[in-house]
Amino acid sequence: MKSSNLLQLSVFGALGAAVAVQSGAPSCVNPPSTLALSDPPYKNFFYSDCNVAAQAVVTSPLPDSDLKQIGPAYTAPSSSGMPPSVGVQGVLRLNDSAVLTLPILGSIRTIRDFVEGPSLLHPIIQAANNFAQDGTGAQVSRLWLDNVTTTTLHFAPCGSSNTSKVTVGKGTLDFTKGDYLVTAQMNYPQMTQLKPSAVLNSQSRGLTTLDPGDTKAVAFLSYSEKLLAGAWRFLTYFGRDSMITALLMEPILSQGNGSAMEAVLGAVLERINRTDGMVCHEETIGDYATFVNMQLGINNSDLGCTYGAIDSSYYLPVLMQRYFVQSPVGQQRWAKFSKTPAGSIDTHNQGLTWGDLALRNAEYIMSKTAAFVTDQTKENLLHLEADQPVGEWRDSFYGIGGGRIPYDVNTALAPAALRSIATLARSGIYPMEKKWSKLADTYAKVWEDKTLQFFQVTIPQQEAQSRIEQYSNRTTFAMPDNPQAIDSDVVFHAVSLDGYDNLTKVEVMNTDDCFRHFLLNTTNDAQLTSFVNQTASNVRRTFPAGLMTGASMVVANPAYGLNPVYAQNWTTGAYHGTVVWSWPLAMMAKGLELQMARCDGSASAPAFCYDSSVYDNVKVAYNTLWDSIDTNSKEVAGEVWSWLYKNGQFQVMPLGVMPPPPGVGGQTESDIRQLWSLAFMAVKRNLSYK
Ligand SMILES: *[C@@H]1O[C@H](CO)[C@@H](O)[C@H](O)[C@H]1NC(C)=O
Ligand SMILES: *[C@@H]1O[C@H](CO)[C@@H](O)[C@H](O)[C@H]1NC(C)=O
Ligand SMILES: *[C@@H]1O[C@H](CO)[C@@H](O)[C@H](O)[C@H]1NC(C)=O
Ligand SMILES: *[C@@H]1O[C@H](CO)[C@@H](O)[C@H](O)[C@H]1NC(C)=O
Ligand SMILES: *[C@@H]1O[C@H](CO)[C@@H](O)[C@H](O)[C@H]1NC(C)=O
Ligand SMILES: *[C@@H]1O[C@H](CO)[C@@H](O)[C@H](O)[C@H]1NC(C)=O
Ligand SMILES: *[C@@H]1O[C@H](CO)[C@@H](O)[C@H](O)[C@H]1NC(C)=O
Ligand SMILES: *[C@@H]1O[C@H](CO)[C@@H](O)[C@H](O)[C@H]1NC(C)=O
Ligand SMILES: *[C@@H]1O[C@H](CO)[C@@H](O)[C@H](O)[C@H]1NC(C)=O
Ligand SMILES: *[C@@H]1O[C@H](CO)[C@@H](O)[C@H](O)[C@H]1NC(C)=O
Ligand SMILES: *[C@@H]1O[C@H](CO)[C@@H](O)[C@H](O)[C@H]1NC(C)=O
Ligand SMILES: *[C@@H]1O[C@H](CO)[C@@H](O)[C@H](O)[C@H]1NC(C)=O
Repeated sequence: MKSSNLLQLSVFGALGAAVAVQSGAPSCVNPPSTLALSDPPYKNFFYSDCNVAAQAVVTSPLPDSDLKQIGPAYTAPSSSGMPPSVGVQGVLRLNDSAVLTLPILGSIRTIRDFVEGPSLLHPIIQAANNFAQDGTGAQVSRLWLDNVTTTTLHFAPCGSSNTSKVTVGKGTLDFTKGDYLVTAQMNYPQMTQLKPSAVLNSQSRGLTTLDPGDTKAVAFLSYSEKLLAGAWRFLTYFGRDSMITALLMEPILSQGNGSAMEAVLGAVLERINRTDGMVCHEETIGDYATFVNMQLGINNSDLGCTYGAIDSSYYLPVLMQRYFVQSPVGQQRWAKFSKTPAGSIDTHNQGLTWGDLALRNAEYIMSKTAAFVTDQTKENLLHLEADQPVGEWRDSFYGIGGGRIPYDVNTALAPAALRSIATLARSGIYPMEKKWSKLADTYAKVWEDKTLQFFQVTIPQQEAQSRIEQYSNRTTFAMPDNPQAIDSDVVFHAVSLDGYDNLTKVEVMNTDDCFRHFLLNTTNDAQLTSFVNQTASNVRRTFPAGLMTGASMVVANPAYGLNPVYAQNWTTGAYHGTVVWSWPLAMMAKGLELQMARCDGSASAPAFCYDSSVYDNVKVAYNTLWDSIDTNSKEVAGEVWSWLYKNGQFQVMPLGVMPPPPGVGGQTESDIRQLWSLAFMAVKRNLSYK
């Protein structure tokens, strides 16, 4: 195919200035919400009203795009409508002829299989595409595996010249240049979307006018039943994403019956595995659920869940404490909320209440953390599930380098969950387990004080300087390696233990310190002083000495790893490589602020407050981080971005155009809007630390 007619089109609804088409659907009281966002080579259009919510993504290759990197993802509708058919409509302008080579009319998950697979197609889904010529227009449609739902994508020439024509080819649609009216329709039940004003609490309603773009984005992803993780790749429930978001955005999210906070908590509790108490990582719904169930010999479309991520279970008690104990509104809600019958969405949980499932989750955590309290060995640390290659937020192949024992879960999430279980038990939330009031605190103290040492990496100053020189020699960044920036021994914590290539410690400097700072107020002064100081040094030092770049703070820095595999695998093209994610910026900024807030001048304040070499270091790191967030404010609502070092400076680059690391087939396109990246609506710089 010639690159000039390579039109790449991902339609999640429709295109251009989308408007809804509703045959037989009720008219809406409120005006539709629309948003158009450009992230070259992608253009995104959002449309939602009371009947339909849709995202359209159009890809036009840039003149300098490497077409091998932007996967040809010709994809199709996954908006939701209500029976009968609803959908969206828009105008697609082609300034050259184009071929739609591969329409995938299926669930987002089906499309992700193709994009991330890479190129994984399911014959049972593709073979069901029906092409039909309609005069000078044409359409492709597909009956879902449920035998009920149909998705249709129709193109009709339009516009003043109106000489264009689309022809059905061999499993393709062939377009001449011109304007086309695109109509995407389906008959699938629509959930109840929360209005922008219903997502935010009353004190924060002003954001609807002050920050309309982010407010629309958060509302687009918010439903009374759950919050969706991101657009477009993650337009479903994800436990970790929604809970991290709720923790960061709690100060502005609505509370009470029908609120955003209860949507998050309810969605998580509803989907807990009743047998072992684990939190659902990702749900499988719609056409993909029918597809997965078919493989298991089950003839229905019931929701399914994956439980492979071990971190997700530990966020739940923390969020429950924030809401049901610390919030004046939430305090009044547990009695009623906990009695909600489970099973209306996850049929496996019929017969239980959300309260029962919360108890199962706490039992899981108490049971998993007990052994280490008795005997502090590496074997007793929390491991990923034996049959899972990944299992916390860095869930790509190179995320934690194949490590079995993740840093974040062991040193922060487990003790934080235990602290919260103790508080929840004291508040009467687990009436049968009053003993947890003390026991969970006892456990937490051990997990707080005895886990960091397993992960700590200390590199003497001179050795550290030499390692970053060696790293610069191995990479092609052509940027200064800043050995003079290393003014002390370098200390950081391995991102995991027991990784690939026989790495006992996966010595990648990283941002996961933010979990401890954000979630815990530890009390072992000797440990806290050096921990908070090394975070500050690593955050403020410029890459490759530290984590800071002109594109903001990277989530991983492999420069101190001696094995060449570090530099090879954690690259600017790797999803969890030397790239910038938005939410860790927010969590690190908030975490450092919370630690500094403990310095209230009292005798009980932590010792680091009274050591200016440390306190000032933290303050510099906090302000360096905020300066970089402000500089990159255009990026922060996105999921993840990368950078190039060119003409003496760091330049932001979309991850989607960077070459993937060796051994990874396709590149990942960043979501234009990610739920947890909207955290900066709530997380603001505190100027009293300037
Ligand atoms: C189509 O538009 C793009 C972007 O504006 C431009 O680079 C390209 O040359 C145009 N192609 C034709 C055939 O006009
Ligand atoms: C859909 O129809 C096909 C063919 O009649 C049948 O084999 C299949 O089981 C049906 N699927 C469902 C979920 O009803
Ligand atoms: C474009 O032309 C076709 C064929 O002449 C006609 O059927 C169609 O209604 C026209 N569409 C518009 C939007 O003018
Ligand atoms: C729920 O947990 C049990 C026990 O660990 C496990 O056997 C089962 O497969 C889990 N359910 C799902 C859907 O993964
Ligand atoms: C699946 O269930 C539907 C009814 O819900 C039935 O019509 C169909 O025959 C079933 N398919 C199989 C393979 O059992
Ligand atoms: C929320 O409000 C609805 C409508 O008033 C009521 O039916 C429902 O029981 C309430 N749910 C909870 C958990 O309070
Ligand atoms: C690095 O990447 C190579 C090639 O994909 C792989 O074999 C190896 O296991 C990876 N090592 C680590 C520590 O990620
Ligand atoms: C880096 O490469 C230069 C030039 O090849 C060499 O002189 C220097 O010794 C290397 N430095 C390290 C630390 O390997
Ligand atoms: C890892 O250790 C095993 C056993 O000692 C050895 O066979 C293997 O070659 C080592 N792998 C690497 C990549 O060093
Ligand atoms: C900023 O920090 C100061 C000092 O800890 C604190 O008193 C104040 O409440 C903080 N402001 C905000 C808006 O959180
Ligand atoms: C830690 O201390 C800060 C400052 O006193 C406070 O705002 C925060 O809520 C505390 N966090 C926890 C988890 O107790
Ligand atoms: C904290 O870090 C700074 C900068 O690296 C260093 O100068 C200072 O000695 C450290 N303080 C302590 C108490 O370790």
